[in-house]
Amino acid sequence: MRSIFIIAAVFVSNLSFKPTSNVPIADDPAALYQQYCGSCHGRKLESFRSRTWQYGSTLAGISAIIKDGVTDKGMPSYGRLLNEDQRAALSNYLLEQSKVMLEKSANEEVYSSAEIKLATEVVFTGADVPWDIESLPDSTLLISDRDGQLFHKRKNGEVIEIKGLPFVHNKGQGGLLDVCLHPNFVSNQLIFFSYSKPVDVDGKKWSTTAVCSALLIDSQLQEIKEIFEAKPYFPTNHHYGSRMAFDDHGLLYITVGDRGRENENPQNLQSDCGKVHRIKIDGSIPEDNPFYGRTDVRQSIFTFGHRNPQGIAYHKGKKMMWVNEHGPRGGDEVNLLQSGSNYGWPLTCYGINYDGTIITQDKTKEGINNPEVVWIPSIAPCDAVFVSSDLYHPWQGDYLVPSLSFGYLNRCIVKDGKVIDQEKLLEDIGRMRSIEQGSDGFIYIGLENPGKVIRIRPLW
Ligand code: HEC
Repeated sequence: MRSIFIIAAVFVSNLSFKPTSNVPIADDPAALYQQYCGSCHGRKLESFRSRTWQYGSTLAGISAIIKDGVTDKGMPSYGRLLNEDQRAALSNYLLEQSKVMLEKSANEEVYSSAEIKLATEVVFTGADVPWDIESLPDSTLLISDRDGQLFHKRKNGEVIEIKGLPFVHNKGQGGLLDVCLHPNFVSNQLIFFSYSKPVDVDGKKWSTTAVCSALLIDSQLQEIKEIFEAKPYFPTNHHYGSRMAFDDHGLLYITVGDRGRENENPQNLQSDCGKVHRIKIDGSIPEDNPFYGRTDVRQSIFTFGHRNPQGIAYHKGKKMMWVNEHGPRGGDEVNLLQSGSNYGWPLTCYGINYDGTIITQDKTKEGINNPEVVWIPSIAPCDAVFVSSDLYHPWQGDYLVPSLSFGYLNRCIVKDGKVIDQEKLLEDIGRMRSIEQGSDGFIYIGLENPGKVIRIRPLW
């Protein structure tokens, strides 16, 4: 403790002798830190608490890093913005702070991973099952609650319930499901949402996966139009699939599960269930769809032979949709979608029935595309994102998949469009339902029991 005081004292006296530059000298390094550094290193200095210094722990060494940055790793250079004295003040401040123990606040947890230490903080608690999180361009969040509510968490922290949604079939796995912004949302304000749509059949409620488009203006939905409705309807309340994503031609992909009817649906091209569909935003069929113009099959089908695809994300480099799906017991999969291809369910599969009986001995077959990843045991993969944010630079390009059943975040490490390794992140955090990379670059995760949305912050 004593030596720290001495360093500080020497430094303060130094400052008073050296008013060298025209830039006003901030005598408060804490304020400089909040202004320039807190967004990445943590408002409460989490990144520097209990720090093991990578680039040396001398004042000169730290000051040099602040001046030059580590630009290929995401640490900007501050040589222009901060003068020598300010950099020295910050270095000294950080060195002092690194000797303080890292403590967790009530709202925050800290996790470690191979390359990044992570802090999680709760940013929203109003939904039981936050089925999807969607970041608007201004970094505010839309959160769908499966029971049928859609929330907008605004800049000032205020939460508004967005009204005007259709009645959803909130039963079993059904309800209000995915939300997806049009790639040109800034100019057209178009959003898409999927849900389980009910219909009366002989006094009983049957349901299906449906998608609507709408304009989102001032936290209000206008001009709601149904653009997709999976046929046929079923009395079951599970395997809706229903995740959505856009490719770079502005076409919308929609996943639909097998509705628990594996022998009727996934291999049957007259049924929409157990498929991934591709449509234009008005619901019409793109001319280059694999079954375009064929009257004997459903023309919106892009791929078939799926069980319950609950995650989809677009790999920009390879121009390919990646889908993760819940298999039976053991045998969850990541599939890379090729137009018109069959992904095998239930003719091939890596898992067995929940009751232990065999579904098929065949893992692969001629004419069936193999999965890129198989999870045995099943992790119940939900939602997915490809990381593009600089804030998590070692994860750039990786495919992150929440595990609902094991309650962790699965990182698929991706190189050249292939999964080369995997890492478990945020282990035991709880049932993880949804993930989003926000417009602010941070990753957000939806958790259940109790329902909340957390932000994960890298602590560099
Ligand atoms: C855009 C995000 C970002 C901002 C803003 C940022 N840093 Fe960094 N900083 C990083 C990253 C990422 C690293 C880790 C680089 C690596 O892994 O090599 C880092 C590393 C450092 C290190 C080296 C730590 C060590 O272990 O040796 C120091 C010192 C540092 N930053 C200080 C600062 C200061 C002071 C500021 C504000 C003036 C600042 N940073 C602003 C992202 C940021």
